[in-house]
Amino acid sequence: MRLSLRFVLPLMLVLAAIAWGVAPLVDQLTLRWFTRDMDIRAELIANAMREPLIDQLAAGSKTKIASYFSRIARDERLYAIGYCATPDDQPLATRSLPPQIRCENLSQWQDAENPVLESSRGSLHVAVKPLNEEEEGAGWLVLIHDMSFVTRRSEETKVYVFYFFMALAAVVSLVTVIIAQLSWRGWVTGMRALLRGEGLLREPTPRSNAPEFQPIARDLHRLIQDLESETRSRDESQITWTPDALRAILHGELRGENVIVISNREPYIHQRRGDHVEVQRPASGLVTALEPIMRACSGTWIAHGSGSADREAVDGSDRIGVPPEHPTYQLRRVWLTPEEENGYYYGFSNEGLWPLCHIAHVRPIFRSADWAHYVAVNKKFAEAVVAEARTPNPIVLVQDYHFALLPRMIRELLPDATIITFWHIPWPNPESFAICPWREEIISGLLGSSILGFHTQFHCNNFVDTVDRFLEARVDRESFTVTLGGKQTAVRRYPISIAWPPDPEMVDKAIGQCRAEVRAANGLPAGHLIGIGIDRLDYTKGIMERFRAVERLLELQPEWIGRLTFIQIGAPTRTGIDEYQNHEVQVRALAARINDRFGRGVPPPIVLKVEHHEPREVYEYLRAAEFCFVSSLHDGMNLVAKEFVAARDDERGVLILSQFTGAARELPEALIVNPYDADQSAAALHLALTMPPTEQRDRMRLMRGLVGEFNVYRWAGRMLLDAATMRRRNRLLEKPPVGTSAS
Ligand code: G6P
Repeated sequence: MRLSLRFVLPLMLVLAAIAWGVAPLVDQLTLRWFTRDMDIRAELIANAMREPLIDQLAAGSKTKIASYFSRIARDERLYAIGYCATPDDQPLATRSLPPQIRCENLSQWQDAENPVLESSRGSLHVAVKPLNEEEEGAGWLVLIHDMSFVTRRSEETKVYVFYFFMALAAVVSLVTVIIAQLSWRGWVTGMRALLRGEGLLREPTPRSNAPEFQPIARDLHRLIQDLESETRSRDESQITWTPDALRAILHGELRGENVIVISNREPYIHQRRGDHVEVQRPASGLVTALEPIMRACSGTWIAHGSGSADREAVDGSDRIGVPPEHPTYQLRRVWLTPEEENGYYYGFSNEGLWPLCHIAHVRPIFRSADWAHYVAVNKKFAEAVVAEARTPNPIVLVQDYHFALLPRMIRELLPDATIITFWHIPWPNPESFAICPWREEIISGLLGSSILGFHTQFHCNNFVDTVDRFLEARVDRESFTVTLGGKQTAVRRYPISIAWPPDPEMVDKAIGQCRAEVRAANGLPAGHLIGIGIDRLDYTKGIMERFRAVERLLELQPEWIGRLTFIQIGAPTRTGIDEYQNHEVQVRALAARINDRFGRGVPPPIVLKVEHHEPREVYEYLRAAEFCFVSSLHDGMNLVAKEFVAARDDERGVLILSQFTGAARELPEALIVNPYDADQSAAALHLALTMPPTEQRDRMRLMRGLVGEFNVYRWAGRMLLDAATMRRRNRLLEKPPVGTSAS
């Protein structure tokens, strides 16, 4: 109502002002009309008077003429009549003739544009007509009309005009108020529905329920969803992804919520070496990705304390601040018995799930004793999460295949937690996954998550297909969500990456110096060409296939013999497992055989270094090489490929990348190969060694652009933004609808 008044009052004032402004115009107009009427009237009277007056003038009776004039002047409007024979005469006239009208000035009135005389009687119209139009000198007839009625009429018209405008204002205002009220009511109803979380289209009015409106409503709903997601992705692409951006999301979008990360592998391992303790950084893509995130977000990282000096380093609550040189977050260690480690880590995780998910032709082994340990250790970590949670609804980031049961266990203990699980390895198709005897438990455990992430859409699809095959759950392939027991899990693709820009310490040594030092450390001559491979000594990495490709190159292009050495750094891993021990033996034997064949009397074609290297040394090797060869037989992402790109700020070096890595989908400028095809891989090695520097630069520049843009902060930021949206939505849904009162 106030809104209407605010509009209506000014409108009325404006119209009143218009009415006021129009009044003088009305005056002028009516005056002009009436003057013209007077002229016509005077002409008529003159015509009627001419003949009798000529006769009376001829008779010479002034008295008769005076009474004739008086008779005619009885007319209500005719005020006076006069006659002048010549300009020098006195007028023969009724007594009412104003003194201003004299015979001598008649010509002035005859020619006047506005022949109106203002007298004490008011306005008078003066008409001067010749007595005889055909005969000059017959004299002039003067007819004076009273114009006071014109002023009266004009006043009346002004009043009518004013009332007309006021009535118009009232009608316009009334129509405006009605329209405003109707639209306001509709808008308020819509807003209320939105605030209740119903959405304008989800709770259709009886009218919009009509079948003919439903397709329109559906289209609109979809359009809104598209716009929402477009805005989100636009916003996401507009952020410069840095540790600060991530911190801003945590503090802004997530109100500084408590973040807890759980992984099996810890980011810092304290190892006893004689009488001193060494802090080691493990060779793990997971740790490489998560460590910068935790540095940015603080929070708590819960992991298995696997180092020989880990217990000595922690406080009474099994916690230690890390990184050791400048602590920014807490590492909480969980202790496992040797039996638990054997059953849960070596057994179920790495002899069962690892080969199950990687199609690397190693048979998975599933033992029920390992499963029991797996369940028990998952429970142990769930209790640790509860102990570390500062609020009932923390954000929990569960990492990898060691903790498939953990999301559901946390959901039961902390129902309001936001649980984001990331599966760092591939997810196989339903046929392959069917091998696992506890497949239903594994899938149901993962569906305790709010969000479940994979590196590629292909793995998301495989997971959803597996759920569809083995569980009674509702799978929505449009929104990519799975609902089990009334709880929804969003299945999303989040390609992992590395910190960008890389730590300046990693790239501070000049490329030339890196080359010289690497050659010297490996007994290679100056100018010798180096290829590099850096992995855990894992059968999924295709190290055997890599060596066979080098062998094939030397067979096909012998000019490289003695000029090229491929250095393979193989970090020892999971050495308690037979398959890994066998693999190491096979790798060593193959390297020795190739060196025996092509390395006699010249530098060896292969240098195999089975030992742990710290990140700085890894970067030195990456910077020294002509090419980096990543030949995984199956890999979720593979971060070594991205680290090679980050290490090459000189925009040189060639990446040869297996088509079976997640990274191959993001880095098509690499030389993409099928590692099982030795000839193709050998051809790629030759191409890399002969590639012109300009082409190297063009390819490297594109890859650096992509890794820089899609860095690990963006990986984590996207998950956290999605978690924030989910929390906001849940808060809205929990609210009672507007209008209901708690009684
Ligand atoms: C892969 C897994 C990680 C694991 C890493 C090292 O990248 O996805 O979860 O930490 O391998 O393996 P390890 O068994 O030594 O932790």
